Amino acid sequence: MQETIEAVWKAFQADLDSFPTDRREVDSLKSKYFGRNGALAKLFSQMGKIVPEERPGAGKLINDLKKELTEIFDAKSAELFYNAESTTENVDYTLPGETQRIGTIHPVTKTLKEIKDIFKSIGFMVAYGPEIDDDYHNFTALNFPQHHPARDMQDTFFIKENVVLRTHTSNVQIHLMENTNPPLRYIVPGRVYRNEAISFKSYCLFHQVEGLVVDKYISFADLKGTLEYFVKRIFGNDVRMRFRPSFFPFTEPSAEVDIWDDKRQQWLEILGCGMVDPAVFENVGYDPNIWHGYAFGLGIERIAMLKYGITDIRLFFQGDKRFLEQF
Ligand code: DAH
Repeated sequence: MQETIEAVWKAFQADLDSFPTDRREVDSLKSKYFGRNGALAKLFSQMGKIVPEERPGAGKLINDLKKELTEIFDAKSAELFYNAESTTENVDYTLPGETQRIGTIHPVTKTLKEIKDIFKSIGFMVAYGPEIDDDYHNFTALNFPQHHPARDMQDTFFIKENVVLRTHTSNVQIHLMENTNPPLRYIVPGRVYRNEAISFKSYCLFHQVEGLVVDKYISFADLKGTLEYFVKRIFGNDVRMRFRPSFFPFTEPSAEVDIWDDKRQQWLEILGCGMVDPAVFENVGYDPNIWHGYAFGLGIERIAMLKYGITDIRLFFQGDKRFLEQF
């Protein structure tokens, strides 16, 4: 018996010297000694052949051997498969902890929140409308003549005939007036889509905030005062702004507002606006002899670009953390 035990011990030591590094081989080595048909099991099975008086002594020897081999084997495989840091002795308490990385607010979301807060503080309500709409709400009801270039395939994404991805948030002016009796005072934030060549200044989608005020005695002075107030609150009192005459089918007269871009040393358009055209009121069943109104549509990316000195609109849509983490 003694000899058999020694043989197992020797074989084990030889295997230790060429201990495998592959987990599967370690497992098979483990069953070679500790498995159901392993070397230790065989030793135990030989107990029956020993004369009864010697059995307790032999039993103890085998048990001690098993205990010793198990300890050595476990230590050896632990050394292989667990890296040093996971054992308490090797923890370096001076290493910095793992910091929780939290997200940041997207500059478009941040700018939109500011815009909403300003208009809400002067009595505007916030509404939303569909991004997929029919030609009627996106164009016809807004007084776009049938062959206006804005209906051209180049500017508009068509889902199918007469169904478009809205090219502006102005479609919601029509939905609001169809479903609400005047007076009303709303802003409408949302995504809009344009089938345009992508560049530093245009992207196939961007965000607008539409504004619509309808009441009995509304004049261009109300429009101008409100937008001037808004521009000063969002850019500060020192902002340089100008109203420039313009044209939109759904407003008359129409204007655009430009902001002086210090970085580029040029004017940048941030919104279109005007007095609601009587033809639009007629399309939604409002009497243009009683009701007057103004509307505006501002580009959120444009405002964010000016506020934060961003020079490429594509950055807003790329999800690059190095860009986003700055806000
Ligand atoms: N819808 C126009 C655009 O996308 C912007 C605009 C101009 C909106 C004048 C208005 C407005 O409400 O009155 O370019």
